[in-house]
Amino acid sequence: MAKRKVAILISGRGSNMMALAKAAQAADCSYEIAIVASDRPDAAGLAWAREHNLVTFALSPKGIGKPAYEAAIDGALREAGAEVIALAGYMRLLSDEFVAKWRGRIVNIHPSLLPKYKGLDTHGRAIEAGDAVAGCSVHVVTEELDGGEVLGQAEVPIEPGDTAETLAARVLVEEHRLYPRVLADFAAR
Ligand code: GRF
Repeated sequence: MAKRKVAILISGRGSNMMALAKAAQAADCSYEIAIVASDRPDAAGLAWAREHNLVTFALSPKGIGKPAYEAAIDGALREAGAEVIALAGYMRLLSDEFVAKWRGRIVNIHPSLLPKYKGLDTHGRAIEAGDAVAGCSVHVVTEELDGGEVLGQAEVPIEPGDTAETLAARVLVEEHRLYPRVLADFAAR
């Protein structure tokens, strides 16, 4: 079966992108990385992607406005043959128009057990609430922030004395296991 071509969008260090790219090297992986794109030309993850011979695209929306920026991203992804978009620490909200163009074909990883803690500071909020468990979710992206169908989740315990940082590190280990597995299932659909 032909591999589905995935575009990964990042804004920062790109550790989930690295996990997705490493998993894609397996001969039987259902997806391959068509392009890694970023709204931050200085994103650390982009340098890693270039070093690993992945196709990259970087453009800052500053000065050109969101519609022109998104049109350029959309064009780069289509030129690369992307069929699915995986958001991996992409810190910008996609417009409703962009989501509609890629309806049902954008996924994201979010560091909470959705529907709990949509948005930012998920770990601090889980600790503050006295939760016993935290985790991460891979979900379909819709117009509603962190609101689309949940495709997979992984849980970790919240330990006494945890800070947002120690909990984030524990969750991140699970993110790197969960995201490649769920993306592979999604790409094989
Ligand atoms: C991860 O915690 C992910 O869940 C969230 O943003 C962070 C990205 O980290 N969406 P990285 O850039 O993949 O290392």
